[in-house]
Amino acid sequence: MNSIIEVRDLVKRYSKDVLAVKGINFDVKEGEVFGFLGPNGAGKSTTISMITTLLTPTSGTITLDGMDIVKDANKVRRSIGLVPQSLTADDELSGRENMQLQADLYCVPRSISKERIDELLKIVKLEEAAERKVDTYSGGMRKRLELAEGLIHRPKILFLDEPTLGLDVQTREIIWEYIKNMKEENNMTVFLTTHYLEEADSLCDRIAIIDEGEIKVIGTPSELKDSLGGDVINVTIEDDADHSPDIEKMENVSSVSKDGHAYKVRTSEGNRTMSDILSASVDKEWRIKAISLHEPSMNQVFLEYTGKSLRDEDKGSTKMERRNQVLQNSRRK
Ligand SMILES: Nc1ncnc2c1ncn2[C@@H]1O[C@H](COP(=O)(O)OP(=O)(O)OP(=O)(O)O)[C@@H](O)[C@H]1O
Ligand SMILES: [Mg+2]
Repeated sequence: MNSIIEVRDLVKRYSKDVLAVKGINFDVKEGEVFGFLGPNGAGKSTTISMITTLLTPTSGTITLDGMDIVKDANKVRRSIGLVPQSLTADDELSGRENMQLQADLYCVPRSISKERIDELLKIVKLEEAAERKVDTYSGGMRKRLELAEGLIHRPKILFLDEPTLGLDVQTREIIWEYIKNMKEENNMTVFLTTHYLEEADSLCDRIAIIDEGEIKVIGTPSELKDSLGGDVINVTIEDDADHSPDIEKMENVSSVSKDGHAYKVRTSEGNRTMSDILSASVDKEWRIKAISLHEPSMNQVFLEYTGKSLRDEDKGSTKMERRNQVLQNSRRK
């Protein structure tokens, strides 16, 4: 697949003390949903603002659909849609007027825009509130309006900075469904940030995790989850001194930690290790009180790459760095 966005050695320094983006590199492929995840202040919005020409990079380059975002800023703006994190709709205008304004700004002919505005307002469930001034809208309604605005000119690349924050589950699902359809029908590329990690897991083709202005890892959701070293089995066994279970020696098991009678087993083949433990329990008369299998979640991935385990454990961090390297090398191939 072609790269539609190429970010090279991108740096943003706001002031002497604030280096928000520290020389990041990544590509976004045409037609993919690319998730940009990271904790508060990681540099997500700053990066989106640079890619969408709102902020000038301190150094580095960004190429979007073959255009340089600094030299060809005007052309770049026409091929992108942006739903920013902060609310931008005009309070004094109605929902429909805001939409019309946006359509006019992007030179969508009135013959097309009228119908499209109706369609979009319906999708984001604002038909009934369409003629009301935006200052009477709730936060969720504003967010939905802005999402509709970002789609008015059917952009080739859509940037969504926290598009579903504060929306209820049902509305979130409707919005994602619509974005997925848009993506499939028009081969639209979607670049999004979100704090809903499970959503990112199911929606994104690839995910980059950024923390403190640096990209920690990039890969498909399954690559990221696999990088954690496989599945976890939690098992509680009533052992005694003569009968200590020897799970470490089992095939596929990479590590076992013990807390009282509870064992945490990491394995590359969760189902197989689970049945190995169960048959050993019969053969060796271990008394199993509880056993459960956990496949790695995006939440765990996020914690590993940005959270305490990354910073607080020196050993962990070396391991993670190695994993990053493996993933990033595999991407380069
Ligand atoms: N206009 C600005 N002037 C100075 N510093 C800024 C400015 N905008 C952002 N920063 C700083 O740059 C860093 C990155 O901020 P940014 O808004 O890009 O983070 P973010 O990942 O989008 O966070 P969030 O999840 O909270 O939206 C933070 O330390 C922030 O305080
Ligand atoms: Mg932000």
